[in-house]
Amino acid sequence: MKLIIEKTSKEMGCSAAKMIAREMEKKLALNLCLATGATPIGCLQELVRLHKEEGLDFSKTTSFNMDEYVGLGKTHPQSYYYYLNQHLYQQVNIDRNNTFSPEVLAEASVAAANDYTKLIYEKGGIDLILLGIGRDGHISFNMPKEALHPYTHVEQLSEATVSDNLRFFEKRKEVPTEAITIGLKVILDSRKVILIADGEGKSKIIREFLNDDRITTKLPASFLRLHDDVTIILDEKAAGQIKPEMRLPESKRR
Ligand code: PGA
Repeated sequence: MKLIIEKTSKEMGCSAAKMIAREMEKKLALNLCLATGATPIGCLQELVRLHKEEGLDFSKTTSFNMDEYVGLGKTHPQSYYYYLNQHLYQQVNIDRNNTFSPEVLAEASVAAANDYTKLIYEKGGIDLILLGIGRDGHISFNMPKEALHPYTHVEQLSEATVSDNLRFFEKRKEVPTEAITIGLKVILDSRKVILIADGEGKSKIIREFLNDDRITTKLPASFLRLHDDVTIILDEKAAGQIKPEMRLPESKRR
């Protein structure tokens, strides 16, 4: 795993966007899987800027949402499809026929989850996945627990995650408690992984993640240690509790 520490959250986002852009330039028909939530906003803004000002071409890009709340359709303002549509798709030249998200109707469906896994692999798998990390160590919506799922599946969101998501909704009862998410094998089969985290609120989980080289289902992000192309990009606040001796061999501070 490679670690990059940028000074600010904005620089963290730009650094991730530049890595994504480099991969898009190497392979025009890149299969992307992008995180949603608060952390990736700066990265998405930089991707839009690179498109508008430097001609970054999305015309052959395919984009898969990694997760979606159960019960929120694509047009719901808090759905993750809506999020990527708003922050990226409608501002770049991506073909909407190449943008996918797990099908979530009123109820979670195992068949829909299986279809999504099948679709990802039929399209050639994920070339680059941009992950965030939850305060509880989740990646995509794979929550810490006794056992984890390899493929797309329905997850009950942890209390901590429901509380964290409350900021995006008006009332607690509106916050979804279930999501469909890709599983750990789908993440680990992605050819390149970038994980971003910013802010002091993430510093504790980042310390736990980087402090210990063991793999545990209690910290789903620890499974990234099984992948040989992972870049972690942090801002200084998220990196605030990393001790120098914990630094990975390949690390850069900017
Ligand atoms: P956040 O979510 O970017 O809104 O903090 C992180 C995550 O759940 O991956």
